Amino acid sequence: MNIGVFDSGLGGLLITKSLIDYMPEYNFCYLGDTEHVPYGTKSQDIIYEFTKNCIDYLFKKRDCKIIIIACNTATFAALRRLQQTYLLQNFPDRKILGVIIPTIEEVVEKNYSSVGLIATDGTIKSDVYGQELRKKKSDIKLFSCPAPLLVPLVENNADEFAPPIIKSYIEKFKDKDIQAIILGCTHYPHYKKQIESIAFEIFKRRVDIISQDEFIPKSLANYLKKHPEIEKELTKNSEYSFEITDVNDNYVEQAKNIFQADIKISKVDI
Ligand code: DGL
Repeated sequence: MNIGVFDSGLGGLLITKSLIDYMPEYNFCYLGDTEHVPYGTKSQDIIYEFTKNCIDYLFKKRDCKIIIIACNTATFAALRRLQQTYLLQNFPDRKILGVIIPTIEEVVEKNYSSVGLIATDGTIKSDVYGQELRKKKSDIKLFSCPAPLLVPLVENNADEFAPPIIKSYIEKFKDKDIQAIILGCTHYPHYKKQIESIAFEIFKRRVDIISQDEFIPKSLANYLKKHPEIEKELTKNSEYSFEITDVNDNYVEQAKNIFQADIKISKVDI
């Protein structure tokens, strides 16, 4: 059986690459819902429906034992409901994991007292990061800024327009004494270096960047160590598939850039 990775679009390919680099022996099936991206501006109910359909595909057609919802927006909008209803009714012996709790754990482990968060409108409005962080560290200060324009920039390969937009978002934290910025959207690690250097310019000191591609692989490996009943079902043939729900030349080129290789990316009807 396989490990599924789901995202609303191409952003999740970065996490998929880091997962493959970290644990190349497993089989990974990536699915990006490029037909419906962006999720971040849509209602919770519609995000749930899109996410459920994609998860259902990965379980039924791609024989996934475990799926990582790499999309923060889908994690806040759909993960709990999927776990509590869909999964129990349909695949009680399989698992769906999200990316928000591992991110909270990373922030707590680093012992920050004041952090900034950039994410989609939906994720920011849900206050999921604030709620989960305060459960683990009640005195932490969290400052949030929606950064919706970064997703279309990534999806459209429009990197040259990114710096002033990133600057306008990071400047919102200017008078806050933050130690780190959480990239609370799967797409944002694409601009990690730019965000880091623009934050340095603005704060005149280093601000750590909490980037999910750097710790989700370790968090999944730890999970599999703790759950041998799941791990033993996973095939280790180093086979990777990449599917998206809508395809154009730009997507194919983007995928090649991320993997620095000629990967095959196919369209599926969900
Ligand atoms: N990938 C999504 C996330 O991590 C954001 C992109 C979108 O708006 O679809 O939140």
